[in-house]
Amino acid sequence: MLRNRKALLLLVLILSMVVTLSACGKNDKADDEIRIGVLAPMTGAAATYGESTWNAVVLAAEERNSKGGINGKEIKLFLEDTRLDANEGANGATKLIEQDKVHGIIGAVASSVSMAASSVAQRNEVPMISPTSTNEAVTKQGDFIFRACFIDPFQGYVMAKFAIEELGAKTAAVIYDNGNDYTVGLTENFVKAFEEMGGTVTAKETYAANDQNFSAQLTKIRRDEPDVLFLPDYYNVVGLIARQARDMGIQSTFLGGDGWDSPDLAKIAGPSIEGGYFSNHYSPDNKSPIAEHFIDAYRAKHGSTPDALAALAYDAALVLFEAIERADSTDGKAIRDAMASISNFEVVSGSITFDENRNPVKSAVVLQVDNVHKNSNDEWEAEQKFIKMVNP
Ligand code: PHE
Repeated sequence: MLRNRKALLLLVLILSMVVTLSACGKNDKADDEIRIGVLAPMTGAAATYGESTWNAVVLAAEERNSKGGINGKEIKLFLEDTRLDANEGANGATKLIEQDKVHGIIGAVASSVSMAASSVAQRNEVPMISPTSTNEAVTKQGDFIFRACFIDPFQGYVMAKFAIEELGAKTAAVIYDNGNDYTVGLTENFVKAFEEMGGTVTAKETYAANDQNFSAQLTKIRRDEPDVLFLPDYYNVVGLIARQARDMGIQSTFLGGDGWDSPDLAKIAGPSIEGGYFSNHYSPDNKSPIAEHFIDAYRAKHGSTPDALAALAYDAALVLFEAIERADSTDGKAIRDAMASISNFEVVSGSITFDENRNPVKSAVVLQVDNVHKNSNDEWEAEQKFIKMVNP
């Protein structure tokens, strides 16, 4: 009996040493590097969003590491593909936190995905900053959740005001995905602002994710010949609707939001999208010194002009790096507090000061799809013409 107890004690002692040693090893490793997770749609229907986001975060991290990292610690990135799906967003966040032990998360891109991922981040007290999710509810998930972009109430207002004041529109129709937080929120905000400014909304038609044929809804919209047709979705869907609407003889001016920003919009829509206007976070034509540096460095590294997703992902990375530097710690609460205190912080898309809901107050730009033409690969492509800047 006594011998057994001794043996047991010895075993417990050895086991606890092993556990302590391995925990030590892990902590040491985690302590001398800054681990940052990225959630982005690398595959699926809107993969250009993921490519831009990841390219920009990689650039920001490389630049920072070449200058000694953050307080002498090297940044290490971990990527999870959300495929533009809310469940994948939650799973990705869980993996980043539990397996990769990240100290902060940049992402997600789409509002519905950020909503799912942010509840995981909040519960685990890991700070998260979405570069691009504009639905108002995203940061309301809790005090660990921030964003680097303006929100949809502003974006909806900007486009309604533009339609009425600059285009002289009196009537508008909307067609949107009623299962997508981004399109629902943007529709509500556009409609509210358009009606408040004296406009009439002639139709509010809906569809579901993965729908390909919009002729029933467009037939109803066509009856009233609205001055503008608001298309508040991602480029892959906007491209399809725009094409079908023009094929059916709808002549309304097309309007939309930041979801239009992709080189693939014109590829899908062809000439049907020519002349359409959308609100966005940045224009490569609007150059501050930091934007100029970013555009040049991005072009040199990735061979293309950065879109707004790239600009905002770079900005979100700069904000997170700054917060970790100020916190001088990888503790989630310390990083959260440091991030909340950031103000007048110059980034590519403007300047960041967080309000009480962890939203930056920023201006928007209105861009026009211009010069839709075939490129040397026989694919449609377009330019984005800067029309105006709108301050909050
Ligand atoms: N604002 C969109 C959303 O919340 C995402 C997006 C931003 C897409 C910018 C394209 C460009 O879902």
